[in-house]
Amino acid sequence: MAAEKLRSQGVNVIDLGVGEPDFPTPEHIKQAAKQALDENFTKYTAASGIAPLRQAVCDYMNSNFGSDYTPEQCCAVLGGKQGLFNAVVSLINPGDEVLLEKPCWVSFPEMAHFAEGKVVWVDTESTDFHLTADLVKAAITPKSKLIIINSPSNPTGRVIDPAEYRKIIEVAVEKGLWVISDECYLQFVYPPHKVNSAAQLPPELRARVLIAGSLSKTYAMTGWRIGFTLGPKEWVTEIVKIQSQSATHAASIAQKAAIAALTASQESVKEMLAEFQRRGDWLIPALNKIPGVTCGKPEGAFYAFPNIKGLMKNCGFATSKEAADELLLKYGVVTTDGAAFGAEGYVRMSYANSLEAIQEAVERIKQMVADRTK
Ligand SMILES: Cc1ncc(COP(=O)(O)O)c(C=O)c1O
Repeated sequence: MAAEKLRSQGVNVIDLGVGEPDFPTPEHIKQAAKQALDENFTKYTAASGIAPLRQAVCDYMNSNFGSDYTPEQCCAVLGGKQGLFNAVVSLINPGDEVLLEKPCWVSFPEMAHFAEGKVVWVDTESTDFHLTADLVKAAITPKSKLIIINSPSNPTGRVIDPAEYRKIIEVAVEKGLWVISDECYLQFVYPPHKVNSAAQLPPELRARVLIAGSLSKTYAMTGWRIGFTLGPKEWVTEIVKIQSQSATHAASIAQKAAIAALTASQESVKEMLAEFQRRGDWLIPALNKIPGVTCGKPEGAFYAFPNIKGLMKNCGFATSKEAADELLLKYGVVTTDGAAFGAEGYVRMSYANSLEAIQEAVERIKQMVADRTK
């Protein structure tokens, strides 16, 4: 809102708040949608999505991760968010405990609250924002029903190492929890960190894990609203029931486009990842040179999550929101304050913006520090 107002006043606002790739949807995906239109593929589909899409999801995951999912275990949804929402609402009863990493994406606690579940926070600041099996074990109580894991993470950009990831699931399953693996940023992992999906787990663990997949970020398709849930058949059946009585199904045209995205060349994904890496490689050292700022290297996604506690002290900001507000209102740079995700003293900076814009944003941050400390 404030950014829009500034723009309308002619301010050159740099947006590092965005949670979506700054690239267009690849041409072959758009072509598939155009073809769907030309072929009048514009009517209702099955609530769970068309069979070729559910098959394409299974083929994609099975061939990448050695799993054996079948289309009855898959529901096409209107973006990762709707899949997550349906999954949470179908599972959680009032008073059930939902374990969430702190910090985490803003919608997770809201979904739990909507289902009248109780959020139990698992604070990851002490482990540099890496969720561990020990942290999870310590948070589990007899009322724990669900844990949502998001790796690569929004907002921290951290990736859970596959061995630790498996341990976390083992602990959760042993204690009778269900797991949602939000794999929205699945393919955006920077080497040497590894792309890791719940699909790689052995079947006895996978039996308790639902994958919330999304095509939004991977294929620059945020506006198309297309994703999938993949996992235990009984859970997916409940998700389909909610889908059927609410949104009905994902848009027919988007479903056809999604098949093209999943089955054609994945070159565009590699290109985006390389560009994100180039920007991150510039941004992180630049942030670390600003007095009072320390920023770990993102391992995945496209977010820097610097600790600005020192900067806040030097500049006289009581909260990270105050810092983010000043940066926006006086210097025209949009960031998201860490408190929004449960991490006061941090800000999230998306580098889904051009390198030139990122460089200009860093200059403006330096200017803010200079103005506040002179
Ligand atoms: C962690 C996480 N999960 C899920 C989503 C949902 O994405 P979409 O509904 O666009 O697929 C987002 C979007 O920002 C996200 O950051």
